[in-house]
Amino acid sequence: KANGLALTPPMGWNSWNKFGCRIDEATVRAMADAIASNGMAEAGYRYIVIDDCWHGERDANGFITANAEKFPSGLKALADYVHSKGLKFGIYSDAGAKTCGGKPGSQGHEYQDALTYARWGVDYLKYDWCSTGTRNAEEAYALMSDALKATGRPVVLAICEWGNNRPWEWGKKIGNLWRTSADIRDAWKGREKWSIGLLDIIDLNEPLYPHAGPGHWNDPDMLEVGNGGMSDTEYRAHFSLWAMMAAPLIAGNDIVGMSADTRAILLNREVIAVDQDALGQQGRRVRDDGDLEVWARPLADGSRAVILFNRSEQAADMAVDWPEIGLTKAVRAEVRDLWAHRSLGRKTGRFAAKVPAHGVVMVTVKP
Ligand code: DGJ
Repeated sequence: KANGLALTPPMGWNSWNKFGCRIDEATVRAMADAIASNGMAEAGYRYIVIDDCWHGERDANGFITANAEKFPSGLKALADYVHSKGLKFGIYSDAGAKTCGGKPGSQGHEYQDALTYARWGVDYLKYDWCSTGTRNAEEAYALMSDALKATGRPVVLAICEWGNNRPWEWGKKIGNLWRTSADIRDAWKGREKWSIGLLDIIDLNEPLYPHAGPGHWNDPDMLEVGNGGMSDTEYRAHFSLWAMMAAPLIAGNDIVGMSADTRAILLNREVIAVDQDALGQQGRRVRDDGDLEVWARPLADGSRAVILFNRSEQAADMAVDWPEIGLTKAVRAEVRDLWAHRSLGRKTGRFAAKVPAHGVVMVTVKP
């Protein structure tokens, strides 16, 4: 049974996309300071999650410890610090004997590790799938889910299996989100075994829309916004599509030194509001004309979020007709541009716009 958490997609920051295994206490504190003071906390970013490689060894009694050089104050003190900023604290483990970074995994120590996390004050666990051998995925994740529940502490469980075991079919009763692919790459497109560009990851996540809802989300992986591999136009498309797909918004960049353009993307409250809409219905592609796509998502107030998505190399004139988004042609609706932050007035039957190459126009259509 679900834990009642994450009724809207989790928002926060995670160390992996930018820092990989080069993560330490000072960096995590700096990120918590930044989120608490740069507007991100007010915008909804809440979970500070340390990914792989925080670990030391297990002690003589089998309890996991943090790497004492990288985390000299220990994770309890770090969690306290994060909590003192009004934020939530998350960490990472793995269902196998070792994490992907070769650190001790939780296999055979599930209840002991859950207890340790609860003592430290962990609010979010990302649980990875390396070195799991022939383990049954559903059983492995259910075991950690039960262990977390047994502690009595509310902990969001992020299932980080990569889609091979179809976590969308069983994840709902076990965790709050599940990955739907291998790792995101900071690139517009392309698919390799372990890393997938933006377009390809969107195409893997989109068909799974029926499985998402309050408390249980498809996770097309963490944000690459601000990491430098894509243009700001492409990052706006990335952020817009994540909101359309009700994806967790977990920033993966260095939020201390970010540019004004990166800030304006991560802090776009109107796009975040779509992501966090209370109805919790994942948007989907409603028209596919090759490189030109129309996406729509019904919102709690009866309006629709709509994206005109141009995957091509040239700017394109695009339009959406009301029947494609579930409205009759005669309906007059207020159209608001969520990136220009302005109303475009009342339109009847359709909305048209010029969309930049590798870009989006994102609006709400309110009858
Ligand atoms: C694989 C996961 O998919 C990534 O997000 C990251 O957690 C790495 N493992 C860490 O080793």
